[in-house]
Amino acid sequence: MLAIRLVGGPERPDALALPIRPAGVAGDGAARAVLLPGLPALADDVLAEAAALVPAARATGRAGEAHVHLRPGRVPARLLLVGAGAGDGDEAGWRAAGAALARAASGETHLTIMMPVDAAPDAVRGLVEGLLLASYRFRLTEAGETPALSGVDVAVGDPAAYADAVERAEVTARMTRLARDLTNTPSSVKDPQWFAEQVEAAAAGRPDLRLRVRQPDELAAEGFGGILAVGGGSASGPRLVELDWHPADARTHVVLVGKGITFDTGGISIKPVPAMKLMRKDMAGAAAVVAATLGAAALRLPVRITTLTPLAENAVSGSAFRPGDVITHYGGVTSETTNSDAEGRLVLADALAYAVAELKPDLLIDLATLTGANMVALGKRTGALYSDNDELAADVLAAIDAAGESAWRMPLPADYVEYLGSDVADLYSAPNQGGGSVLAALYLREFTGDLRQRWLHVDMSAPSWADGDAAELTRGATGWGVRGLLRWLATLG
Ligand code: BES
Ligand code: MN
Ligand code: ZN
Repeated sequence: MLAIRLVGGPERPDALALPIRPAGVAGDGAARAVLLPGLPALADDVLAEAAALVPAARATGRAGEAHVHLRPGRVPARLLLVGAGAGDGDEAGWRAAGAALARAASGETHLTIMMPVDAAPDAVRGLVEGLLLASYRFRLTEAGETPALSGVDVAVGDPAAYADAVERAEVTARMTRLARDLTNTPSSVKDPQWFAEQVEAAAAGRPDLRLRVRQPDELAAEGFGGILAVGGGSASGPRLVELDWHPADARTHVVLVGKGITFDTGGISIKPVPAMKLMRKDMAGAAAVVAATLGAAALRLPVRITTLTPLAENAVSGSAFRPGDVITHYGGVTSETTNSDAEGRLVLADALAYAVAELKPDLLIDLATLTGANMVALGKRTGALYSDNDELAADVLAAIDAAGESAWRMPLPADYVEYLGSDVADLYSAPNQGGGSVLAALYLREFTGDLRQRWLHVDMSAPSWADGDAAELTRGATGWGVRGLLRWLATLG
């Protein structure tokens, strides 16, 4: 990961970035920009030179705009003008600026960014997150493309005042990158045991994190019938990872559940080729909740978090579960399975029921790449959020938004509940009545017991993946959910 350093002033002469912002419209109708006020004076009148470059470059100051100016034989050799947007100190604008710089300066080995003397800590936080997230490359398939940029100095008047902001940004970005790595990993490598080992490795050196990995025989002994059914068709058996961050000063206990299907063929109800292509990402929810929990531990947030990731490969074989099978979940509720491609809800049901019966948390949250209908309803960048608790929904949505992710609250209509009825079991797992994401959420709610009012679910199928690079996102896994969850967890005490 890019090394970020807070410095009092520029120390290395190679490349220097200066922030600009919009400044109304010029006489000819073109958008104008100016250097941000409050930049400290620089040697050789570089600021005056840069100020003259702003109109010459036809800069608008829009967040994420970048212009590179070459100064052969002079110091610095390259000046970068980067738009931070109209809102002064606005974290989102600075996040876009950081992402733009990571790309515009990807050929540099080192970059110095000048910040105004009165920069808000949140501005530095956004800048650093943008730099670290946009410079991500997946190590396995894109090793050759690793950007040259390896160090960035952020010049602020008083480095100590920004140390906390940089730490939060670094932990957030490191954990988002971990979630991206786990999700991008091909399923030939990533089976349930592999995922459990990655969690173990990431938690190593932290004796204050408790980890338990349940093997198939333990899952059977305790009655995790959903996880066993879905994992039954694969040569790589299912697992349940339980990771616990339990600081002494915690007053709130949150359980985070993440869908961990390491590959989703659809099972006997097999997916067509285009729909199966990216199903290695079907554990993005598990990756996000694990990474958020590790981030909370790294930041020592005073909240207890137990993370559950039911892990299984939904494979096709003679031992795979069948459409029409009746399975018994943890705690005894039964489901008629109808469609083996609706597997995520079956493993989540076990984990939710276990959390309610055994962990009895204050709040219960699950993240899952649950339905293709998420994208039909909301497009490619927005998760579908469900909760019967208005306050919890508003708090989590606000955190997601502040963190630069996107979700939209969806309804849980009472009159759709009847579609979950079955002649042979307590529940019908995949009613074909439209509103696929909504019905999946209603199904999950049946397993929340007395925590029904304290439960929140996000269907994150769509935003878990990016087709191309965009601002702080890089093509492939996005790590969606890590940033929003960490922000929200930081508000609990
Ligand atoms: N993993 C898929 C959902 C998915 C689709 C995630 C596209 C990411 C991108 C899930 O297991 C699934 O197959 N859902 C079915 C449910 C249906 C059978 C009720 C779907 O959405 O079609
Ligand atoms: Mn499926
Ligand atoms: Zn799935």
